[in-house]
Amino acid sequence: MKTSRRHFLKISGALASLLPLESLAFSPAKSITKPLVISTWNFGVGANAEAWKILSQQGRSLDAVEKGVQVPEADPTETSVGLGGLPDRDGRVTLDACIMDEFANCGAVACLEHIVHPISVARKVMELTPHVMLVGDGALQFALANGFKKENLLTPDSEKAWKEWLQKAEYKPIVNIENHDTIGMLALDVHQNLSGACTTSGMAYKMHGRLGDSPIIGAGLYVDNEVGAATSSGLGEEVIRIVGSHLVVELMRQGNSPQKACELAVKRIVKKQPEKSKQIQVGFLAVNKFGEYGAYALQKGFTYALYSNEIPNLVFEAKSYYNS
Ligand code: GLY
Repeated sequence: MKTSRRHFLKISGALASLLPLESLAFSPAKSITKPLVISTWNFGVGANAEAWKILSQQGRSLDAVEKGVQVPEADPTETSVGLGGLPDRDGRVTLDACIMDEFANCGAVACLEHIVHPISVARKVMELTPHVMLVGDGALQFALANGFKKENLLTPDSEKAWKEWLQKAEYKPIVNIENHDTIGMLALDVHQNLSGACTTSGMAYKMHGRLGDSPIIGAGLYVDNEVGAATSSGLGEEVIRIVGSHLVVELMRQGNSPQKACELAVKRIVKKQPEKSKQIQVGFLAVNKFGEYGAYALQKGFTYALYSNEIPNLVFEAKSYYNS
């Protein structure tokens, strides 16, 4: 599975380099590109493929994003999402996730332990409770009461990495750790409805209880079915500071293309934190109601995967503010 996926990534990467990115990202929408799914980082390819099974059968974007992000959540070799995620500094794997649909329904869980698919618990919070977010023990109790299985998410490899980290116990955010981070996914279905999902184990070796942007509606994810949807990856604190995904959607509402909206949001981070922004990574993805999309990051190296009828699940690298 891993080998063939790597092979596919290699092929898709090579194909991507042949495609005129500018024209893909900026061509005016003469018609609506749907269905479409876009997700953060190279591991978005496997997630998109799962989402596409639903989208290509005229399914709902909400179902597509949930099933899509479950792929890296269940992959023990992905150390920044779900099972196998790197733990906090106390050795506990704590997961953050949120989901949002075309009706502005949303659900989230934060600091959730022992559950492989936090995204599905977030969906249950959305569908079965009058609340938007459950955290910690409350989220776990809710998950168990709704049939989720309690599991050990700390794999031997992640435990080994944590024990090595403990020798120095230094915490510094590192740009593009292992070239991936949160998976954020946005989908537009054939009914022209948007949904999004975002899920992560958060910063490796964080303080216990630390939340990033990913479970926060408006920060790590936002969907407005009249306008568009956005998601983020990278250092969550800086995304929360500007309520990043909501900002991107509001910038699209003001008439900006998804690409321009992502650029303006990244520039807002630079303006607020000029020195810090040189050392950290944040990337945004956005899609509008017409299936136009955009991506932009602080630093080079932020990749995303795109699947539509025209673009068969290829990986692209976003433009960036620094070093581009
Ligand atoms: N963007 C993921 C985090 O900061 O936790």
